[in-house]
Amino acid sequence: MDAAAERLVRGELVAFPTETVYGLGADATADRAVASVYAAKGRPTFNPLIVHVPSFADAEALVTFTPAARALAERFWPGPLTLVLPRRPDCPVSLLASAGLDTLAVRVPAHPLALALLERVGRPVVAPSANPSGRVSPTTADHVLQGFSDTLLPIGVLDGGPCRVGVESTVVQVEGDVVTLLRPGGLPRGAIEAVLQSELRRASPIAGPAPTLHSPGLLESHYAPTLPVRLGAQGARPGEVLLGFGPSARADLNLSERGDDVEAAANLFAMLRALDALGAARGAEAIAVMPIPEKGLGEAIVDRLRRAAAPRP
Ligand code: TXA
Ligand code: MG
Repeated sequence: MDAAAERLVRGELVAFPTETVYGLGADATADRAVASVYAAKGRPTFNPLIVHVPSFADAEALVTFTPAARALAERFWPGPLTLVLPRRPDCPVSLLASAGLDTLAVRVPAHPLALALLERVGRPVVAPSANPSGRVSPTTADHVLQGFSDTLLPIGVLDGGPCRVGVESTVVQVEGDVVTLLRPGGLPRGAIEAVLQSELRRASPIAGPAPTLHSPGLLESHYAPTLPVRLGAQGARPGEVLLGFGPSARADLNLSERGDDVEAAANLFAMLRALDALGAARGAEAIAVMPIPEKGLGEAIVDRLRRAAAPRP
């Protein structure tokens, strides 16, 4: 833990566990450190990053909270919710982390190692998922090491075992009392709507033309395994490996035999990786995925799978 905190303070990269996925951390106040995150991920620099802090008070030093944003933070932090809010004029976070926007995405992760590390570092930490851009997000320390094995950057990994939630945080933008869902994630939409007592606005580039391109990071092709992905499969065709869901599924791997959305989210990225490996071993040409209901965390799961299946650049 000490070594990890020292590395971050020196401007180096450290991967650490959160309840959602492993993050590739860097000092958010150092332009060079933030730039090296983009470089390590091979991420287009127009994609802004999430800043992680250990408490609500620390977030208040960076962005301006509206009453709606405060209500969400009080209810869900620490936890898998990211709030996009206006930067304060004195916000010390690198402008590069906002990728040219006047807003900043912040969250307080619910993982003891993440919180201890953030406390020790004493400054905000940017942490996109710790995988090369466009690929499957890591839910174990081994996944992180596999992803960066052929880069020369020194990347330390704090090993906290498998991530409990398994998909990234839900990202919402708060503008006054208008709250827009930018990315479905580990906190179900219904939980947020219950606190707001209203429906979230939806901004999805996949469902037709984007209303405003609020979240340039919502790239259509993302979270992709090496093999092509076919959705809505009723079974495996020749040359496919099959990812199932639910009790009747006769699949190579099953996200949740009891049809549970929370269990399925936790398994999603590890199983996509495992099917990539199985498919390669069998000379398969694609991963087929059975239908998954968009209820609870199913919305985030289906969102990730659609991106994994989208045409690749
Ligand atoms: O669960 C998570 O959120 C993980 C863990 C490590 O905390 N982190 C993560 O970060 O997924 P990242 O950088 O991969 O995801 C950032 C998402 C992207 O969809 C990006 O477009 C959006 O948040 N985002 C960040 N800043 C934004 C901003 N200022 N305005 C709109 N969207 C923003
Ligand atoms: Mg990511």
